[in-house]
Amino acid sequence: MNELYTERADAGYQRAERKAEEYFTSLYKQVTEKTYVSALTEDFHLWKRNHIHRPAWLSLFSRKNNKPDSKDYHRYISWLNYTGKLDDYLERSVSYIYMRDLGKALDSAHTQTRIQRVIDDVKKLLLRSNDASRGFQPDFISLSGMYRWAQKEGVESAAIWVIHKLNQVAIHIPKEMNAEHAQRKLIKIMIGVIMHAIEEMDEDTTAIERARRLDAAIRLGYSYGLTYPFIDDLLDSGALDAEEKKQYTSLIRRALLTGTVPEPGEWSGSNSETMQYIHSELSEAFECIKAYQEPEMQQTFFELSYMFFHSQELDRDKELSHADYTNEELYIPVILKSAASRLIVRSVISAPEDEGFDQRSFYYGIYNQLADDFADMFEDMREGAVTPYTYYLKYRDSRPDLINPFELYWAVISNLIHNVYHNDAKTREVILDRAINGLKRCKARLGLAKYTEVMDIFASGNPAFYRLVEQMVTKAEDVDFLDKLLRDQMVNVLINDRKEKEYFAETVNNVREQINNLMRITKTSGMAPIQESLIDAANYSLEGDGKRLRPILAWVMGVNEYGLSASAIEPLLRSLEYMHTASLIFDDLPTQDNASSRRGRPTLHQVHNSATAELTGLFLIQKAIQEQASLQKFDPETVLELIRYSSQKAGEMCMGQEMDLHSRGKALTLEQLNRMCFYKTGIAFEASLVMPAILAQVKETEIEILKKYAYHAGIAFQIRDDLLDFEGDTNLLGKPVGKDAQNNNSTFVSILGVEGAKQEMWEHYCLAMESLQKMPRSPVFLRHLLTYIVSRNS
Ligand code: IPE
Ligand code: IPE
Ligand code: MG
Ligand code: MG
Ligand code: MG
Repeated sequence: MNELYTERADAGYQRAERKAEEYFTSLYKQVTEKTYVSALTEDFHLWKRNHIHRPAWLSLFSRKNNKPDSKDYHRYISWLNYTGKLDDYLERSVSYIYMRDLGKALDSAHTQTRIQRVIDDVKKLLLRSNDASRGFQPDFISLSGMYRWAQKEGVESAAIWVIHKLNQVAIHIPKEMNAEHAQRKLIKIMIGVIMHAIEEMDEDTTAIERARRLDAAIRLGYSYGLTYPFIDDLLDSGALDAEEKKQYTSLIRRALLTGTVPEPGEWSGSNSETMQYIHSELSEAFECIKAYQEPEMQQTFFELSYMFFHSQELDRDKELSHADYTNEELYIPVILKSAASRLIVRSVISAPEDEGFDQRSFYYGIYNQLADDFADMFEDMREGAVTPYTYYLKYRDSRPDLINPFELYWAVISNLIHNVYHNDAKTREVILDRAINGLKRCKARLGLAKYTEVMDIFASGNPAFYRLVEQMVTKAEDVDFLDKLLRDQMVNVLINDRKEKEYFAETVNNVREQINNLMRITKTSGMAPIQESLIDAANYSLEGDGKRLRPILAWVMGVNEYGLSASAIEPLLRSLEYMHTASLIFDDLPTQDNASSRRGRPTLHQVHNSATAELTGLFLIQKAIQEQASLQKFDPETVLELIRYSSQKAGEMCMGQEMDLHSRGKALTLEQLNRMCFYKTGIAFEASLVMPAILAQVKETEIEILKKYAYHAGIAFQIRDDLLDFEGDTNLLGKPVGKDAQNNNSTFVSILGVEGAKQEMWEHYCLAMESLQKMPRSPVFLRHLLTYIVSRNS
């Protein structure tokens, strides 16, 4: 191991430790001398003027009772706006973020100007999104919302990169961990890093420079954020066995001390696959961080990371059964880890040193840590984790020397208001808002009985002061925060998303199974052998492992959305897959793409010859029409309309293929590309949506929306197909890769390059998603189909 690094890291740690000791000593003094009590009592008397509006009995009749639950996001924002509370709400929320996440002092005029600007922007965003997406999740928490932001800032590449990364993380989170919270934390860290980067820029920063810095912040934010779920949470989670934990801990320690993630050796336990993924992801993250940072900053980054990790380790190794930890042993690591986690963020983006920031962040960290540990104390207790609260719960009677962490928490608050932030009135307002909000949330979560029990234990020392606090918790209003609202929303969105994804996968699997059972063309008795052989050829092409997306789509829309009977639309499902399979047979012919495999087996013309393949294609198309004409459960006029529509679309698909063949070697414009892909691919998706709608006699306006969705979804599907032809895996695809290049085809990849093709695919993803928002009820299935389309590997 690099000795120099180790020495520096140790020296750095010891320096920080001494500073933390001094800080702790001063807090300890404020607790024992109870100076915080008088200071905060006065603060609360000033503070409550803005928060206690009327006698309690009157509030029974007040507007308060109309206050919607903040879980009802849209109504809540509208309510804030309507009652004139939105400005204050945003002011405290944004100010708090500036203080906590950006380490700013609120009494600076410059900071106030920036805060005001952010408030104006956020207000516009909230109100606009509230108008646009009533009944939806707030649109900025969606992938399309995020991608639209990335386009505005010119950081599409980084956005596409990070979306893929986050998906991979979601897939690899061990089941012992809370997946949504791990994802949320990672996203939160990324947002923190991005905010720092934005804060470092001003009007003079050019658009190009801004995009460059944001691009870096996204990649760095992910790289650094990864350490939260995959170091800290993973080690806490119990997913790893003792051996794995030891191996992993020493690996991380070495990585932080040398700046390079070492080779892991063999993972012996049951998590070896996960560990391999995490190892390679962390190695990449480390390299990314190093690539962006100046050597000097790297040093700081690794020193702080080591401080963070080492203090965490000290904490993690503590055992609740150990009865003799001193106050210092309990609190110093808490001060260090919470400070380090805030200090690192600036070093991640190589922001210039800022003395004020370092000081404030150092003192600030423990405030959040103690608030979080308070809220989690019962969970921590169940898990046997040592935090100041769990330790105090267990040993308070036998160890009168132990500090009451709740008292220390208030001492920290008082110290922040009066010493760190120099009695600034805005700081007092915001910190007390937050403290009271935290207790209110805790009370709601624990229930009155449990909450009272907790307070009896922790709030025993200063009855008068805690009575005052309790009064505030019960009566004070206007202490809610936007970040809490968004946090709850994000967790809901993530949980919901997971459920919907499961529903999507289940539906696809179930329906595919049913469809597979319907596809086989049966022979009637007494058929001539020549007739039989064409049917065999058709069945050969149908039998491969096709995804069946088009009939699945028609089934979901027909049965789930329009309530049609599944058995009544069977002929429609068959006709869709017959036409699609025919188009593939033609597409693979030597006269067209000349492909040797399809759906995991040799193409039909390889097994027989081109003539048989052509005839089988024609046969399947005729079968498709025969099926459509057998939709006997529907009104004949409607069926005729369907056949008219279908044959027109089949004709248009031929035109798409013709365009495709004629465009070989040509530099198509984006518009021509889109048109070609809509015709050759999008049309089939449109037909799968529109044909059940015709049978269900859905209104023309709704059909128009479906068409728009299909247009963009279909093109996105073809772009993904082009990308897979370039960089996919033949085994997964069941068809050859590299065909487009061989044939000199004009595709999104050949014209726009891989990166450009991906961006165009995401553009169509957003347009399709936005078209769904115009639907009275947007089918969950169609939303997730899009996600599937842009991320599929087969
Ligand atoms: C392939 O379609 C033809 C294109 C439109 C790109 P699919 O990818 O849906 O093929 P199967 O039905 O799963 O084989
Ligand atoms: C073909 O597009 C679209 C059809 C309607 C057949 P491709 O030629 O890219 O389809 P694959 O890649 O062969 O499946
Ligand atoms: Mg083709
Ligand atoms: Mg082809
Ligand atoms: Mg292709």
